[in-house]
Amino acid sequence: MYTHLFSELKVSGITLKNRLTMAPLYLGYAGEGGKVSSLLLEHYRLMAKSGVSMIVVENSTIDHPTGSGSDRTLRADTNDNADGLKKLSSTIKQEGCLACLQINHAGRFAGVHEPVAPSAVETFGKIPKALSKTEIRSVVNRYADAALRVKNAGFDMVELHGGTGYLLAQFLSPRTNKRNDEYGGSFENRQRFALEVVTAVKNKVGDFPVGYRFLADEWLPDGLQLNESVRFARSLESECIAYLSVMGGTYESFFLPNIVSKSKENGYMVDLAAAVKREVHIPVITAGRIATGSLAESILEEKKADLIGLARVLWADPEWPEKTKTGKENDIVHCDPDCGDTCMKLVMKKKPAFCVRWNHDKLKKWKNRIG
Ligand SMILES: Cc1cc2nc3c(=O)[nH]c(=O)nc-3n(C[C@H](O)[C@H](O)[C@H](O)COP(=O)(O)O)c2cc1C
Repeated sequence: MYTHLFSELKVSGITLKNRLTMAPLYLGYAGEGGKVSSLLLEHYRLMAKSGVSMIVVENSTIDHPTGSGSDRTLRADTNDNADGLKKLSSTIKQEGCLACLQINHAGRFAGVHEPVAPSAVETFGKIPKALSKTEIRSVVNRYADAALRVKNAGFDMVELHGGTGYLLAQFLSPRTNKRNDEYGGSFENRQRFALEVVTAVKNKVGDFPVGYRFLADEWLPDGLQLNESVRFARSLESECIAYLSVMGGTYESFFLPNIVSKSKENGYMVDLAAAVKREVHIPVITAGRIATGSLAESILEEKKADLIGLARVLWADPEWPEKTKTGKENDIVHCDPDCGDTCMKLVMKKKPAFCVRWNHDKLKKWKNRIG
């Protein structure tokens, strides 16, 4: 049963023992100042024990505070966090799981008073400052430095966060990039920043695998859409990116009524992954309520994606892979599509997240744990 799901795949020469990965999920478990906390280590040990082949650890900042979502965003911008990151990668790897860390600059969505962005396009009441060309060069170098820290901390791969409408995506988007220099205007110009980041990272880390969280569609009428994003996918493939982890939406579309209802459906982003997969030969990850083994298996069988990303699905029930493998699917605790995005709302309020589907004992234990 589920022969595709539990088959190996090589990504940039590294063998993944099955097609299940954990997609990045920021839950506010790092300590103040973005330190690797014991709560974070416990969480990732549990996720690694689940049996997925690789964990992509939540977004970590390349530039604090200017590029951080919050004060609990993990820090990859400083050597001060090197020991913590080493502990994190080895905790995951001790459980027989590959470890990848996502690096990010939040741009106009950063939790600071005056965020930076490609252009001064208003976001939730704040007008960000447009980056100068000198500042762009400095940000590019920061991505490269952070990627090297990830490699040196013992991770197996690094992932560039090009999703959720963060800085890499802001440059690609015709909505948020209104520049009239070589970084704005035409599609070629709008993809320049991301490609410069990829080149700088690759030059710094050598043959270390670099994956990309890929925004296929902003789900906004004037935003980045598939016709352009698939061209960008081909550009990334030419730059020898290890895999594309495809997603849709940004903070400006996630809470629109039509997107809220679309996002309640199982496999709600599979069509985007399939569209990207048709354009490239590198592995494609799809996420978004891949709630059942049969859905995951059919996605792989129909070649809509090569790997499955589980975020809330795995967090709600870390036994999902084992229950799926051993025919105990009826026992799976499913992420509740009607809970009103409780976990997302908690972290947006800068609070550590819990899952409304956890049973009483687990919730009690967790509440005692966070104090
Ligand atoms: C609370 C929360 C935090 C998230 N954090 C990240 C993140 O740090 N990086 C990222 O690329 N995606 C992030 N995502 C998106 C997930 O990786 C995933 O694409 C999405 O939740 C759909 O998969 P799921 O239904 O299995 O959760 C986050 C989603 C949620 C709900």
